[in-house]
Amino acid sequence: MKYTVQRGTKDILPDEVSVWQVIEKTCRKLFELYNYKEIRTPIFEATDLFSRSIGSTTDIVSKEMYTFPDRKGRSLTLRPEETAPVVRAGIEHNLLSKDNVTKLYYIGPMFRYERPQAGRQRQFHQAGIEVFGSDDPLVDVEVILLAEQIFNRLMLRDLEVDLNSVGCKECRPEFTKRLKDYFKDKIKDLCEECRKRFDFNPLRILDCKEPSCQKYIEKAPASSETLCLDCKIHFEKVIEGIKVSGIKYKINNRLVRGLDYYTRTTFEVVSKQLGAQNAVCGGGRYDTLVEELGGGPIPAMGFAIGLERLVEIIKTQNSKLKTQNGILLYIVTLGEEAKKIGFDLLIKARKAGISSDMDYLGKSLSSQLKAADRQKARYALIIGEEEIKKSKYILRDMKLASQTEIPPSEIISKLQD
Ligand code: HAM
Repeated sequence: MKYTVQRGTKDILPDEVSVWQVIEKTCRKLFELYNYKEIRTPIFEATDLFSRSIGSTTDIVSKEMYTFPDRKGRSLTLRPEETAPVVRAGIEHNLLSKDNVTKLYYIGPMFRYERPQAGRQRQFHQAGIEVFGSDDPLVDVEVILLAEQIFNRLMLRDLEVDLNSVGCKECRPEFTKRLKDYFKDKIKDLCEECRKRFDFNPLRILDCKEPSCQKYIEKAPASSETLCLDCKIHFEKVIEGIKVSGIKYKINNRLVRGLDYYTRTTFEVVSKQLGAQNAVCGGGRYDTLVEELGGGPIPAMGFAIGLERLVEIIKTQNSKLKTQNGILLYIVTLGEEAKKIGFDLLIKARKAGISSDMDYLGKSLSSQLKAADRQKARYALIIGEEEIKKSKYILRDMKLASQTEIPPSEIISKLQD
C-alpha cells in the first residue's frame, strides 16, 4: 500500500522551501524591526479556548475545527488560528498589562477542516503579530503599516487594504438590530446557513459568499452608520493615519471578518492575483477578548498573513526574489587518490565555513559537473591524476564557465574572500 499526503495538506519540497525561507526571514526581520518578540505556543489547546474566543456560531468553530478527546477524555483542538493561544499564554504568564504595550509575533501551522481549493488548505501557515495594552488608533496604523511593509519588501504589487470598523459593545447591538430589521423580510430567500445566522449571529450573514445572499448583502446597512461617537472618532483617526502613510486602501463596510472577537478596526489585505480566497492577510482590533478570557481590561490588535497565499502570489508574479541558495563549492574527483584528497579538502572547507559538497558516486567528469550545476554550485574544483601530479587543481567558475589552475594551499583562502 502506498501512502499519500492527506487531503488539504501539502509537502513543501526542497525546491519550494527556499521561497518559504525568504518569506519567513523577511517577516522575522520586519517584526523585530517594529520591536515584536517571538512567542511559540503548543499546536493544540483546550477546545473551549477557541469556541469562547472565535465564537461558537462562526464557521471556524461550528464546522472547521480538528477536535478530538485525549486519552483522559479532555476535548482538545488543533489550533485553527493563533490569536486565542497568544492571549491564553499572555494571561497565563503575566505578559499582558494595561500599563505597558506588549508586542508578540508567531510563525507556524494552523488547522481548519475546510473544503480544499486554491489558497485554502486544512493545514496552512500563518505569520502574525498581536499588540496588547493600547487602544490608540496609531497602533492600528502601525499594525497595518507593518503588514504593508512586509508585502512591499517581498516586492508584491496589486495589493489593496480593505478597512472597516465593526464598532464596540456599546454600538454593536444597534448594528445587529438594524441588520435583523433589514433581513427580516428576506429570510426565505437566504441560504440555509444564513437563515440560522439570522437567529444566532446576524453579523455573520455579511460574510456569506452565496450569490442568493450576496444580492441582499450589497444593500445591507453598513456598520459605519451605527458607530458610537468614540468608535467613529477612533475610525477617523485610523483612516487619517493610513492616508498620511500613502497606503492604497478602500473602506469596505461589509468587512466583518469570520471571527467574533473583533471590535472597531478590521482589515484585510487582498490580492487580485488570488481567486475566491483573495485575502492574504486579515486582522483587526479585539479590545475585549483578553478580559473575556480571564485577563484584565487590556485592548489589543493584530493580524495574520496566510503564507501559502503569499507563496502563490510570489509564484504568479514571477517575483525577482533572490531565493537561490546553492553551495559555494562542489568537489569533482577522478580516481581513488583524488577522492581521498577531495574528501580531506571538503572537511577543511566546511570547517572554514564554505558551503560545499562532493560527488560520492564515482561518475564521469561531465556527469559530476552536471551534478555541480544541479546543486547550483558557484565553483567546481576538479582533481584528477594530472592535477595531483602538478599540484595544481582546476577551479571552474560555474557561472562564467571559465577555469583557472590553483595550488591546493590557496583554495580555502580564495573562496573565503
Ligand atoms: P483569518 O482571516 O482567519 O484571521 O486568517 C488570516 C489569514 O490566514 C487569511 O487572510 C488567509 O490568508 C490565511 N488563511 C486562513 N484560512 C486559511 C486556509 N484554510 N488555507 C490557507 N490560508 C488560510 C485569523 O486567523 C486571525 N487570528 C488574525 C488576527 C490576528 N486577528 C487579530 N490578530
